Amino acid sequence: MLSKPQNELVTQTDAGTPGGKLLRSYWQPVATDEEMPIGGHPLPLKVMGEELVLFRDDQNRLGLIGLHCAHRGTDLSYGRVENGGLRCLYHGWLFDINGQCLDQPAEPDDKKFCHKVRQVSYPVQQKGGAIWAYMGEGEAPLIPDYQFLTAPEECRMAFRVIQDCNWLQGLESSTDPAHVSYLHRLSPGMIGAQIGSDARMFGEDIYPRLGVEHTSYGARIYALRKFKDGKNYLRVNNYLYPNGTTPVSSEPPPVGGYQGRAYVPIDDNSHCRFEFVYRKEGIDKAHWIKSKGKEVNADKRHVRNAANRYLQDREELKREGGDFAGMGRYAPAQDAFAIETAGVIQDRTQEHLGSTDIVIIEVRKALLGAIKQMETTGEAPGLLRDPNNNKFPDFICTADYIPDGEDGPAYCKRVLGVAPGRGAHLAAAE
Ligand code: FES
Ligand SMILES: [Fe+2]
Repeated sequence: MLSKPQNELVTQTDAGTPGGKLLRSYWQPVATDEEMPIGGHPLPLKVMGEELVLFRDDQNRLGLIGLHCAHRGTDLSYGRVENGGLRCLYHGWLFDINGQCLDQPAEPDDKKFCHKVRQVSYPVQQKGGAIWAYMGEGEAPLIPDYQFLTAPEECRMAFRVIQDCNWLQGLESSTDPAHVSYLHRLSPGMIGAQIGSDARMFGEDIYPRLGVEHTSYGARIYALRKFKDGKNYLRVNNYLYPNGTTPVSSEPPPVGGYQGRAYVPIDDNSHCRFEFVYRKEGIDKAHWIKSKGKEVNADKRHVRNAANRYLQDREELKREGGDFAGMGRYAPAQDAFAIETAGVIQDRTQEHLGSTDIVIIEVRKALLGAIKQMETTGEAPGLLRDPNNNKFPDFICTADYIPDGEDGPAYCKRVLGVAPGRGAHLAAAE
């Protein structure tokens, strides 16, 4: 449970809010490469409450500038791409990718004041199949070189989905190892089935032993389950500062990869879930696109949504061996149901956390600690500024069978050679 002020701290992201300052001090994905091809059209975007337009100029350089024209506010995403910038349709003012006004054709030559006019603008760069923006103050840090962003192109793909609730609800669902035993139970046909998703982990052991350790990049999250055949099944996921996660693939070990995710606020009432799928041996992209196409509309919203009660099939709940949720077999849509129905901004003063919410509690601590650090030192945790240090020797995202008596920290020590992170908290052992 959080107090009302704490809940506001971690959910509010407009410019000037402590949470907004934290999120703005890291690069954030704002669109996928696919949405902004060479010669592509200007794309209106809202990021953390700020209305922006992403565009390519006539030299195909990317720019992210304020959506509303500095003259009298018309939407620049309808503008013409020409003469080194984006031209407003109303009176023809022209803005370059840095937001600088280059031309005011409606003004007589001796009255022009373009040099004094500038739209808000943010630096952008492409990485891992997405376009990232730095909306913070001061010198931008580096975008982390996580494997899911730097692997060969055939091993990764990126897409985004819009969800109608506060960003933190999305993040919390993705760090929560306990819910998969319920919400996603008996979903062997989930999208991961392309590489052999295994249903056992969602239903055979419903009391996973959970652990979480704070690390330089966020937190490492352990869930240990005992299968009926005696195998000890360990999942290691991660929380990445400040709004990212890495859930591992649900196939049986040895797993072929994982997803990197970023939950980027559109405003405080909705967010984009960016998904960076990483598979070591390559991805069947056509399969992913087809599977996703059935579940996500062209407007990037789930087919199953609150307006249609997530197309829940109540008969499926009664059926022997039926899905637990009766909402089909696409786990992200099930997650969307869980997070959106908690309220646009979940009132965390009213919740009752249990022992299996240990990860939620620790991730909130990390987030509140990051906001405090940002406020007191001006520097957020885990920011990378040295290209030689843009690496993560203590990062692992995997699922594996481990020997009796071993736990998550011991596994990581054996496999990675890293000592357990600070503040390890393991839920009650068997
Ligand atoms: S409102 Fe854009 S040029 Fe006038
Ligand atoms: Fe989930």
